[in-house]
Amino acid sequence: MNSPARILALETSCDETAVAICEAPGRIVASRISSQALIHRAYGGVVPEVASRNHILAVRPLVEEALAEAGLTLGQIDAFAATAGPGLASSLLVGNTVAKALALAHGKPFLAINHLEGHLLSPFIGTEAGVRPCVALIVSGGHTSLLQVRGFGDYTLLGKTRDDAAGEAFDKVAKMLGLPYPGGPEIDRLAREGDAGAYRFPRSMLDSGDFAFSFSGLKTAVLYQLDKLAAPLEACLDDLCASFQEAVVDILVGKTLKAARTCGESLVTVSGGVSCNSRLREAFARRCADAGLELAIAPPDLSTDNAAMIAYVAWLRHSAGQADPLEIDVDPNLSVVPA
Ligand code: KG4
Ligand code: ZN
Repeated sequence: MNSPARILALETSCDETAVAICEAPGRIVASRISSQALIHRAYGGVVPEVASRNHILAVRPLVEEALAEAGLTLGQIDAFAATAGPGLASSLLVGNTVAKALALAHGKPFLAINHLEGHLLSPFIGTEAGVRPCVALIVSGGHTSLLQVRGFGDYTLLGKTRDDAAGEAFDKVAKMLGLPYPGGPEIDRLAREGDAGAYRFPRSMLDSGDFAFSFSGLKTAVLYQLDKLAAPLEACLDDLCASFQEAVVDILVGKTLKAARTCGESLVTVSGGVSCNSRLREAFARRCADAGLELAIAPPDLSTDNAAMIAYVAWLRHSAGQADPLEIDVDPNLSVVPA
């Protein structure tokens, strides 16, 4: 156990370049993010080559900013870490190459971190008790998974999406509605003015008896609805957003609470970009309180992609005496629990 260690971590799995520093006892002392969302908005989604080129431009100044924020020099860092996957290969390579080069130059260990484990444990960052047993929902742009967490590193996958991730469904439906990328926050904003009961969209697999999800049927139902609108799209937009969002929220909350009951866990955590959704937060808070369950959701800046969650997992692994060889490769398809 080497608890005073300071870890500097890089996150470049998609379109955010991020750097953070974590020190004992799992405290984040610097966290910087440079978003490329506006660059990719022009293309309606993330363009991998554009993303990796922009990571290269952003990463060095961000490392310097993070060190300045923490009042540290590179020589005071005890280990370097980077997200190894899942994500875009060419983007992952940027953060990994920089972190490995820093580790080599300073004679310090390197840690390859799973982005999904970062999301999974983000609700515990800065908490006194650290990682606790729970049922955990990860809802991001690329993943929708339910897990049982027994402790740090001890995870069982209960179920995941069979097709689109929840965030992907938000982004694709937003695109159909003519809203800009990323569509999740846009739908969240417009839905506040809409009637969630205006259109009845399917709650796919809510009662399937397992913990798998499916969002492609819901997406198609919105598409069919667009063909039979009684008024111009602009007039129905808020109601469509609210009704679609309500269906996603019902499915996510319903399945997660069932999983908590089945597993006998009293703590529920929600992580990943979609956990920023205001209606989802509200529904989880209400339904967990009604069911006598404790709820932990990270604040929005730790829910969307960030390096603090990567630094936190790296700090936990380093504290447990773990490190990875510099030869370790990135893995665009890395899963949170090994198959
Ligand atoms: O975790 P994240 O930042 O990146 C991935 O690892 O995928 O999640 C990004 C996803 C996008 O699909 C985005 O539309 C969605 O999170 N998102 C939201 C909200 N904020 C971000 N979805 C619904 N409501 C929001 N407020
Ligand atoms: Zn993510």
